[in-house]
Amino acid sequence: MSVTASTQVGIVGAGPAGLLLSHLLALRGIDSIVVENRSRAYCEARQRAGLLEAGTVELLRAVGLGDRMDAEGLEHGGIYLQFAGERHHIDFRDLTGGRWVTIYAQTEIVKDLIRARLAAGAQLEFEVSDTEVAELDTDHPVLRFTDAGGTRHEVSCEAIAGCDGFHGICRDSLPPGLVQVAERSYPYSWLGILATVPPSTDELIYSRHEDGFALHTMRTPQVSRLYLQVPADEDIARWPDDRIWDELRHRLGVPGWELKEGPIAEKAISPMRSFVASPMRYRRLFLAGDAAHIVPPTGAKGLNLAIGDVTALAAALTDLLGQANPDPANAYSDTCLRRVWRATHFSWWMTSMLHVDPHPDPFEAELQLAQLRYVIASRAAATTLAENYTGYFPPHWP
Ligand code: FAD
Ligand code: PHB
Repeated sequence: MSVTASTQVGIVGAGPAGLLLSHLLALRGIDSIVVENRSRAYCEARQRAGLLEAGTVELLRAVGLGDRMDAEGLEHGGIYLQFAGERHHIDFRDLTGGRWVTIYAQTEIVKDLIRARLAAGAQLEFEVSDTEVAELDTDHPVLRFTDAGGTRHEVSCEAIAGCDGFHGICRDSLPPGLVQVAERSYPYSWLGILATVPPSTDELIYSRHEDGFALHTMRTPQVSRLYLQVPADEDIARWPDDRIWDELRHRLGVPGWELKEGPIAEKAISPMRSFVASPMRYRRLFLAGDAAHIVPPTGAKGLNLAIGDVTALAAALTDLLGQANPDPANAYSDTCLRRVWRATHFSWWMTSMLHVDPHPDPFEAELQLAQLRYVIASRAAATTLAENYTGYFPPHWP
């Protein structure tokens, strides 16, 4: 037996995209339900992004989600680019007329959102199973799921948002042949660690080393986050803690600088992929965030894109459901894809410039170094990096 109900928007996935969409819709008086197949604790602890564009920060503030971010986030006015044994500073504020970025972990954004949604009495179902979206050819698509207690639900919706990440079910529910995919996989992965030790740098260090890329980022003044380029099919068992620290010291080292080491609280390997599905909509099913597109993390764009998508989607759904105006919904996919492709190019560019190809290619290596020398020497080239990194298409919340 199943329980039937109705709502305005059915949202699949309680990652940053789904939760923020539910929050933005509520600000416009639109009801939604969010269904998530993981537990609340899992969603709040899943280590992923850390870096927010200035426009993302401004949006979160504008919609009432800025308090803890402003108290605990770390504002950075630039990054370090390191290559050929030298570290160079790229000053975003100077290059972009005052733009910056903020370190505030995705885990914290998700915690803030879950707390805000539950305080507002939102319908948020964790640990669901067998999620399905159906009746997609109609103006009343249906969301089905089994709740944590085993009861099957069928919710009639005016629209459904597929915010269910890269491995979700919504993208594959679109009619066969509709979606075009453009993708690129990279011949390396990132091994990421979370370490209980104060960061050894004031701003992020992106290092191209002949033995592979390394990144020093952070979470708080007490917690560091570091990444190493490793082979695409690497086994984490081959990376005991001592080997990780040795390699980080080797790839990030410059004379006179020391990497502080501490206990490793978590380590994991993530693949590197660019993937864009278009269109991001079929009738009243809309895809947002990683469900529609993935970028390699070198440009720090994935979470920022997810937030850009749902900001546009909340505005489009407000017009569609509130005023029966379909124009922004009709433009949704094209609007998002412009931002997505800019970020896809930037992320590909940063990735290709900084990683070392596992098959040694002296031509490629010299091109990378020529590009890196150009970025640190030419104000025009540095500005290109800075304006993309801090957010070229900031989201707009009316
Ligand atoms: P997700 O966070 O994947 O959320 C989707 C949710 O849907 C999940 O909770 C999932 O459990 C749920 N779900 C899936 N299937 C179902 C189903 N069938 N039914 C119900 N629920 C379902 N981005 C940045 O902007 N800056 C960074 O610094 C950055 N660093 C990164 C570092 C790493 C190592 C990685 C891996 C990613 C990084 N990203 C970064 C990318 C960023 O984390 C993602 O782009 C972001 O999580 C996308 O959010 P989302 O809500 O679209 O998807
Ligand atoms: C992070 O803080 O996890 C982070 C920052 C910048 C990146 C990728 C990841 O490019």
